[in-house]
Amino acid sequence: MGEVIESGTLDGIASTTVKKLHKAGLVTLESIAVTPPREIVALTGMGAETAIKVNRLARFKVDPGFVSASELLEIRKHMMRCSTGSKELNRIMGGGIETGAITELIGEFGSGKTQICYTLSVLAQRPAEEGGFGGRVCVIDTEGTFLPERVVQIAESLGYDSNEILQNILVARAYNSEHQIVLIKNLPQICQEHDVKLVIVDSMIGHFRGEYIGRASLAERQQKLAGCLGNLLRVSEAFNLSVVLTNQVQSKPDVSYGDPNKPTGGHVMAHACTHRVFLRKGRANTRLVRVIDSPYLPEEKIRVAITEAGIVDAEE
Ligand SMILES: Nc1ncnc2c1ncn2[C@@H]1O[C@H](COP(=O)(O)OP(=O)(O)OP(=O)(O)O)[C@@H](O)[C@H]1O
Ligand SMILES: [Mg+2]
Repeated sequence: MGEVIESGTLDGIASTTVKKLHKAGLVTLESIAVTPPREIVALTGMGAETAIKVNRLARFKVDPGFVSASELLEIRKHMMRCSTGSKELNRIMGGGIETGAITELIGEFGSGKTQICYTLSVLAQRPAEEGGFGGRVCVIDTEGTFLPERVVQIAESLGYDSNEILQNILVARAYNSEHQIVLIKNLPQICQEHDVKLVIVDSMIGHFRGEYIGRASLAERQQKLAGCLGNLLRVSEAFNLSVVLTNQVQSKPDVSYGDPNKPTGGHVMAHACTHRVFLRKGRANTRLVRVIDSPYLPEEKIRVAITEAGIVDAEE
């Protein structure tokens, strides 16, 4: 995944420095570019000035700053989409979840956020011809709700080898927000080593909401959250992978018009996420889905169903 650096890849960087980077697992330009200098120092033991230089050179090589709109279009051609399991949902999402972006699944408990994550963690492994990313999946589970048994059920219902599917899902349980931050910081290395194409964080906000209580700590919470989301967005762009986050809704009983259920995480969350998908319980196993605030997709409401095979189109 990505260009492996050798001595000479980065102008003016000594081969001993390159060796230190290799030893720390920072072997590609992308992984160096997305690792902040402070961390490069911590990982390699090199001086701060060298780390800053290495990071800047790598970033420049990966992303030379301004690009023309036609180049941008060229870059976006490498963007891939993965099926959600429902054709209707794919349609309102412009073809499925995309790489180089963060997709946020928002909804109350039982609305199907984790069910979409399960379905995606199976489908993302399918080759591109079959509507997948043809890569591995990395799940950061903050609530301990990611059950391999459900993955097996979906994989087998769809006729796939469940052992192989399970092998290619890397799951990390985040025990608190600090742990979650560390796991997210380590993503560049994991994504590079394991050819990860889908990163799931279920849920993004849970720990933050539980740990930072009251107005006084709100600013600190939002700052940490913003840092985390920034890292996720950089990873999605640098490795051309898709990031999917889940988020709950906060009931605002004082709202007398409009939707009383607001996503948590405030503006920080709203700005960082490229696509926001709103889920609501419908009759029986159906769920109502809406894409909100999309930069280019019209808002439309559709229905999906949760079945043994994961998310599928709802029958009319
Ligand atoms: N095998 C299955 N077949 C059909 N429906 C299922 C199956 N497994 C779970 N469900 C349904 O999925 C729903 C739970 O959805 P999910 O776990 O995705 O909620 P969530 O949005 O993640 O909620 P939370 O905020 O509590 O994490 C339940 O209503 C359950 O009936
Ligand atoms: Mg859930």
